[in-house]
Amino acid sequence: MELTSKKYLVTCALPYANGPLHLGHIRSTYLPADIYVRYLRLAGNDVLFVCATDEHGTPIVAAAEKAGKQPGEFAAYYYEKDKAEFEQLGFSFDVFHRTSSAENKELTQHFFTKLSENGYTYEREVSQAYCEKCRRFLPDRFVVGTCPHCSSEGQFSDSCDSCGKALSSGEIKNPKCLHCSSTPTTKTTRHHFFRLRAFSGKLRDYLKENRELQPSVVNYVLDWIDKGLNDWDITRDLTWGVPVPGEENLVFYVWFDAPIGYMSSTVKLLGSREKFNQRWRDSKVVHFIGKDIIYHHFLFWPAMLAGTGEYKLPEAIPVRGYLNLEGRKFSKSKNWFVSLEDYLKAFPPDYLRYYVTCITPHKVEDADFYWKDFGEKINKELVGSIGNFIHRTLVLVKKLNESKVPAPDGLSEQEEELLKKFGEYKLRIAGELDKYEVKDGLNSILELSGELNRYLSSCEPWKQKDKRLCGNTLYVCTRGITALGILLYPYLPFSCEKLFKMLGSDAKKLKWEDADKELLKPGTQISDPKPLFEKVSEDAIKEQEAKLGKPA
Ligand code: 2FM
Ligand code: ZN
Repeated sequence: MELTSKKYLVTCALPYANGPLHLGHIRSTYLPADIYVRYLRLAGNDVLFVCATDEHGTPIVAAAEKAGKQPGEFAAYYYEKDKAEFEQLGFSFDVFHRTSSAENKELTQHFFTKLSENGYTYEREVSQAYCEKCRRFLPDRFVVGTCPHCSSEGQFSDSCDSCGKALSSGEIKNPKCLHCSSTPTTKTTRHHFFRLRAFSGKLRDYLKENRELQPSVVNYVLDWIDKGLNDWDITRDLTWGVPVPGEENLVFYVWFDAPIGYMSSTVKLLGSREKFNQRWRDSKVVHFIGKDIIYHHFLFWPAMLAGTGEYKLPEAIPVRGYLNLEGRKFSKSKNWFVSLEDYLKAFPPDYLRYYVTCITPHKVEDADFYWKDFGEKINKELVGSIGNFIHRTLVLVKKLNESKVPAPDGLSEQEEELLKKFGEYKLRIAGELDKYEVKDGLNSILELSGELNRYLSSCEPWKQKDKRLCGNTLYVCTRGITALGILLYPYLPFSCEKLFKMLGSDAKKLKWEDADKELLKPGTQISDPKPLFEKVSEDAIKEQEAKLGKPA
């Protein structure tokens, strides 16, 4: 549990601006990060939450070509779309910027200049895939083929989706031009390389000394280092990207400028590089990522940071696995896919936040989204336990105490104990969230809601003839509501805002430390209660299941 206010800089992996966001995206990074950030803010910390669209590289150029658009125009569309959908899900970024921005161009070129000054770059002739038919070089995702490590087919030539390894140029087997499927020839071109190998020792120390990194990930990455790192080709023969200073036909590889996007977006937010540099120094830097980009965040990025001699390395990089849908991998082409847009048309954002948290431990293993399970969890837990306790209490306060919070009058020992427990839950959940264990935190809240339901049912205030005892029960229960409301706020911001409005309070003024305090003074008038959550019908679930695998 963090006791004093601290500065944080929290980032989420930047989504490629090349297609619609889907449920898989939010599981590994955006949702756990938002819950963590909302909790930190409630606990009084100074947090900057940063994201942007990742707009360079062949993923964007290829998708733009397919759509008959220019890359910039194409990326701008997805920038706006992603931003709007993230807002609808309540992701509370302080800035959502773009890697095609002036700030990112400037900082990327600065990184390169610094790395070069420090002797960490060099130039070398390389053989590059070249398509005679399309008359162009074919970097990265312009070539598809078979992974040399795991033999998985249909992989892009820069990284394997299946085994997670980054691939160097020319490594992919059976290469084909993405555009016209012809077998590429090779041509020679001159590229700039980053001396990644020079950082093996430093990276090893970083991985071994940082106790916040997940041990399973650390071992995996140490193994890569032990096998020997290769220097990294950081330029490409493309026109779309950050231009390499002093070069006419080269831009930086998208994975060079993308993580710099974390920084340049913060520069945009703070208004200057100086302010940003100070902030980076003062902050605990936390990067939330999915397991497919471990290589880039545990090797390339720390090495780049160290190589500049200007920036410290991130304190934490929480990694989570993929999300499967009904036991299968998400696939847009097979329509085994739920876009955020489609989800948001069907159900409230908080239901997704709730369910995805339930199935998201802080682990590298994959998680499973099942629509049936979604319906059951919402109906049983969110409606049946949490919603039920809150609504029952508010209805009873209306019926039995003219919608006013009663004053406590000689609470029983059991009641005093229960109130004390709110403080224990507050500490326990804070401890879980400090360790990025958002699922454990939610389970603890459910446990509290279960205790409150049992207490309310056993007291039966609706049968209680003694007004004092009835008032005490309702008092303890309203304290339970505000405790739940605060502890749940990072998870379900929309519903908690509604709840606090009903209670006549302003959710924006909430503090984590108030979870076990008397927030509603006796006599406070409560508005007419409306249920916060509604059951999800079987038909609504069946409708979603029926859409999967069918042409959109
Ligand atoms: O893998 C991806 O989707 C990348 N767009 C993530 C970039 S994260 C960061 F480094 F910018
Ligand atoms: Zn071609």
